[in-house]
Amino acid sequence: MPATVIIGAQWGDEGKGKIVDRLAESADLVVRYAGGPNAGHTLVVAGRKVVLRLIPSGALHPHTLCLLGQGMVISPETLLEELDGLAEYGVALGHRMLLSRQAHLILPYHVLVDELREGSEAGTKIGTTKRGIGPCYEDKVGRRGVRVGDLEKPAVLRAKVSEALNNWRPTIQALGGTAPDLEAVCDRILRTADRIVPLLGDVSARLETELAAGKRAMLEGAQGTMLDIDNGTYPFVTSSSAVAGGACTGAGIGPTRIDRVLGITKAYTTRVGAGPFPTELDDDAGHHLRNVGHEFGSVTGRPRRTGWLDLAALRYARRVNGIDGLALTKLDVLSGLDVIKVCVGYRTPDGESLELSPDLADATPVYTSLPGWKEPLRAARAIEELPTAVRRYLEFVETTAELGIDIVSVGPGRDETIELRSGLA
Ligand code: GDP
Ligand code: IMO
Ligand code: MG
Repeated sequence: MPATVIIGAQWGDEGKGKIVDRLAESADLVVRYAGGPNAGHTLVVAGRKVVLRLIPSGALHPHTLCLLGQGMVISPETLLEELDGLAEYGVALGHRMLLSRQAHLILPYHVLVDELREGSEAGTKIGTTKRGIGPCYEDKVGRRGVRVGDLEKPAVLRAKVSEALNNWRPTIQALGGTAPDLEAVCDRILRTADRIVPLLGDVSARLETELAAGKRAMLEGAQGTMLDIDNGTYPFVTSSSAVAGGACTGAGIGPTRIDRVLGITKAYTTRVGAGPFPTELDDDAGHHLRNVGHEFGSVTGRPRRTGWLDLAALRYARRVNGIDGLALTKLDVLSGLDVIKVCVGYRTPDGESLELSPDLADATPVYTSLPGWKEPLRAARAIEELPTAVRRYLEFVETTAELGIDIVSVGPGRDETIELRSGLA
């Protein structure tokens, strides 16, 4: 702090929600800066589970101001559902939340195109969340997107939707679909305006003002480094800037305002959807990770692919994000494995390398095997309470990744956390 970026160092679902919720206790503001309802960030507080898709994971602390930045793509209906869900939970947010006018609207034709492409025989299958993310960002970059601020001007919104819809119609027809009716799209989206418009504001200006006043901000990434549009395993990526640099463009602040980048990694690896995954397992260890770690998507319910921790990929994440500390989650899930393998580099057609191969599809992992442990870890609250084999594992990660571990998570609950360095947030 004062401004800490918290990012996923792997392929998403690293436990960003849990860590942001835990650290937000000592933050004044929590900001989401990229992605949309493809994200599913899970918090477990006092035994109750909340999954957030658009709202920053610090929302459960009543003192936090929650900002949704311009790098995001917003489904207004999902946002309202989420606000209603939180209200039922006893969390009222409207008065302490600001949504950037410059964020883009996800419209029904974005979702339709995403679904049609994923269902079609032709083309590369990414295994998307089918939430319209790719097509929405395509409209943004194509400079025909509709922004959330357009909800304030129905005539402007209608003209923009008309242009975008004309652009998509041939694609929808070629994919065997039927383009939605312009008026139906506009009516549906404008029905949300009454509740969305009062939330709109200038996120960049507000954030700058708060930081200048000495307030502490946490900028919460969505997805993960290896799903980043520029730095991930392209084309098997999402369509936004998931890396730490995305916090600047997506929240509207300069790099000099960022003080710290905390990278989140699981103690193993998961991936949802298609694309290279060098350490993927399809054996008893892989099933252990999926079953004990409950590795099923929080948005789509899809079983997540599981594999060993990839330290070469973690070193890559350190480089492209400028990570200067780690939170390692789901350590408890490794209990019960006889041997724990860790990828330290790759063998490629050109030889052996400690660096991430630019073409992961051709990379065979080089592993170091470490002894496992039987003890359950969820009750541990201090590093000294962890068995020796666990501490050796953590030391190996720190040394090989050349990064200090600041936080260890041993369970989904807010309190199931070991903080190794104070003054983190
Ligand atoms: P995010 O997208 O990065 O916020 O992660 P998700 O919420 O999609 O997935 C992480 C899952 O692991 C959620 O179900 C969390 O409740 C759970 N989780 C987080 N940290 C831990 C941990 O240390 N141990 C265990 N067993 N579960 C955890
Ligand atoms: P959080 O924030 C894990 C994956 C999808 C697919 C690819 C593109 O919860 O970590 P998209 O719908 O974005 O066009 O899909 O990216 N993906 C995620 N995987 N966690 C996420 O978010 C993800 N968001 C997208 O599975 O492979
Ligand atoms: Mg998730």
